[in-house]
Amino acid sequence: MKYYIRTFGCQMNIYDSEKMAGILKTLGYEPARDWKEADVILVNTCSVREKPDQKVLSALGEFKKIKKEKPDAIIGVCGCLAQRAGYEILQKAPFIDMVFGTTNIHHLPKLLEEAKSGNKAVEIIEEIDEGEAELDKYPTVRENKYTAYVTIIRGCDKKCTYCIVPYTRGKERSRRIGEILQEVQYLVEDGVKEIHLIGQNVTAYGKDLGDVKFWELLYAVANVDGVERIRFTTGHPRDLDEDIIKAMADIPQVCEALHLPIQAGSDRVLEAMDRGYTQKEYLQKIELLKKYIPDIALSTDIIVGFPGETYEDYLETVKVVKEVEYDQVFAFKYSPRPGTPAAEMEMTEKPEVVSKWLSELINIQKDISFKKNLQYEGKTVEVLVEEEKEDGSLVGRTRTNKLVHLKGRNNLLGRLVNVKITQANRFSLVGEVI
Ligand code: SAH
Ligand code: SF4
Ligand code: F3S
Repeated sequence: MKYYIRTFGCQMNIYDSEKMAGILKTLGYEPARDWKEADVILVNTCSVREKPDQKVLSALGEFKKIKKEKPDAIIGVCGCLAQRAGYEILQKAPFIDMVFGTTNIHHLPKLLEEAKSGNKAVEIIEEIDEGEAELDKYPTVRENKYTAYVTIIRGCDKKCTYCIVPYTRGKERSRRIGEILQEVQYLVEDGVKEIHLIGQNVTAYGKDLGDVKFWELLYAVANVDGVERIRFTTGHPRDLDEDIIKAMADIPQVCEALHLPIQAGSDRVLEAMDRGYTQKEYLQKIELLKKYIPDIALSTDIIVGFPGETYEDYLETVKVVKEVEYDQVFAFKYSPRPGTPAAEMEMTEKPEVVSKWLSELINIQKDISFKKNLQYEGKTVEVLVEEEKEDGSLVGRTRTNKLVHLKGRNNLLGRLVNVKITQANRFSLVGEVI
């Protein structure tokens, strides 16, 4: 029996898909190379903007064809869109056999049984299931052998006015530190070198547990023998305090890279988004980061065209982008999400004007990113070699999360090597192992 999983969305969904693959492996399934040969197809959906919503429906249209060749094949839809609009999807695509939300992934074995017996298996619950921790007993099946995601906190309590995540993922629940460390231990034994701690809001880790803070978790993970690198995504600027920044600087394995979404530069817009910080407060945190970790690589998310945003507001965002000099910026056009407070707010700017702002911003950032990459030329940096391409060349990442292409050499996979950067491109670096 074979499975195929198509994943949309963020790191949380990628991890969930790895868990579902782990569940299916435990049940005796093998991964299929192509969806056409699968007995179970799972579509793990995202709903953060309108585009991902549409992508899911077109993927389903494609997968539907499998029913002609293999009438017993099971098609399941899960993830954030399923949580938010599972019944609607079922109506639009009645050939689906299974629909389940983000908080009941551990019921996959039961749901699969139900679907196999010819019934529609549907489970979308609003309350968080206490049994969620059952997921811990399953392994993850990962594509990358040397770097692994570990979920440390699920859900989000922030309720930024534009965002669907709190509705699709529920309230914040931190995983117990013992369970996290056990998973890290297991991963290291499996050959993993880099641990990437993930959550929608990792800097809030432990608030609901009461007895542990995020920076303490960083030290605990670093103390697991064999952990060579630590990253974490996403930190919320509001919860990023000096204790965390000090720990980042102090722990040798924590990489000099941070994704710190600002969303907008204008205080008026930040307030309307309910982000809980001003531009000045955000920039103070950036300053503190650069003070403790001078060579830190920063990245961010930005929303352009939020309801009420004017050209002057947008220029504040441009100002911050130029001042911070991020290594990478992920900029999106605002997309109203049903049920969020911002969806009720009035749009001020025309879509074509917002598109112009967006492309202008992307162009400004392109030059900054390239300039940042050029600074690597001639330097020697540590690279974790993660992948061997078909032509024998190798691909790895620097601690600052830059992609590096290397000439192939034996036995370097999974190793940390010193690399001299010979050439900087816009989106990657080229180097030689020394
Ligand atoms: N938890 C993270 C982000 C999660 S969603 C944080 O707080 O930063 C990932 C990104 O999608 C966000 O940073 C935001 O830039 C973007 N996003 C979320 N909702 C959006 C919307 N309604 N329209 C456009 N972009 C959105
Ligand atoms: Fe969404 Fe805000 Fe939570 Fe991030 S912090 S997931 S943007 S509500
Ligand atoms: Fe998308 Fe859900 Fe992540 S909405 S961005 S997959 S938490």
